[in-house]
Amino acid sequence: MLEAGINPEFDLNTSRKETRLKDGTRILLRPMVAEDKDALYEFFKDVPREDTRSLRDDVSSILLIEKWADKLDYDKTLPILAIKDGKIIADATINRRRSGWKWHLGTVRIFVHKDYRDVGLGHLMIEELSEIAYKLELEKLIAEIPDTNTSAIRAFTKAGFYRAAVIPNLAKDRENMPLDVVVMIKDVRPAHDDTYNYDF
Ligand SMILES: CC(C)(COP(=O)(O)OP(=O)(O)OC[C@H]1O[C@@H](n2cnc3c(N)ncnc32)[C@H](O)[C@@H]1OP(=O)(O)O)[C@@H](O)C(=O)NCCC(=O)NCCS
Repeated sequence: MLEAGINPEFDLNTSRKETRLKDGTRILLRPMVAEDKDALYEFFKDVPREDTRSLRDDVSSILLIEKWADKLDYDKTLPILAIKDGKIIADATINRRRSGWKWHLGTVRIFVHKDYRDVGLGHLMIEELSEIAYKLELEKLIAEIPDTNTSAIRAFTKAGFYRAAVIPNLAKDRENMPLDVVVMIKDVRPAHDDTYNYDF
């Protein structure tokens, strides 16, 4: 069994949400489990070539997907899937560290299947990640997006992220030309820590 979040009332192992897209399509949002391996491989098989660059890993590798499924650790990487009729149609992750100076941060990534874009699914996924981040007592979510990816910047902005910084030349495009990266942040909780005994 995977460890639950810090919030004792919130259990990732049983977390699931039934919801609808703008067009009424019913979908289920829930954390990935090991049995999702084959469905996730099928989902990533459909990634358009122009999008492969925006993914950090080589998702065409069955070995990689098997590794993810076998070594699921929600405390490090929490993958949330959107499922329609048993098929995965979007995958979003929160990466975090449970100790050190960044314990309160989550880094997010989202990938929506090309057939389900522009119907509000990306927005729903970002909202779901924000709700889960709140329940996990994270304070900020961070997304790093190439400044050329206007659809992602729009989607994150609409879901409450703000442009915190632009880092020039941080990434490379497909022709190896430098790309500016926008660092977008959403404050999911105030930075104040009630449990800390401030001694002013
Ligand atoms: C970016 C991405 C997640 C958006 O998902 P989506 O489901 O298409 O987005 P939504 O339908 O929820 O749209 C959210 C908002 O973003 C904007 N948007 C979405 N796609 C857009 C596009 N192609 N052009 C302009 N704006 C767009 C819309 O304004 C929309 O607001 P609305 O509700 O007022 O229409 C999706 O395109 C994707 O998976 N891209 C590849 C991976 C990627 O770039 N991930 C982001 C970096 S982590």
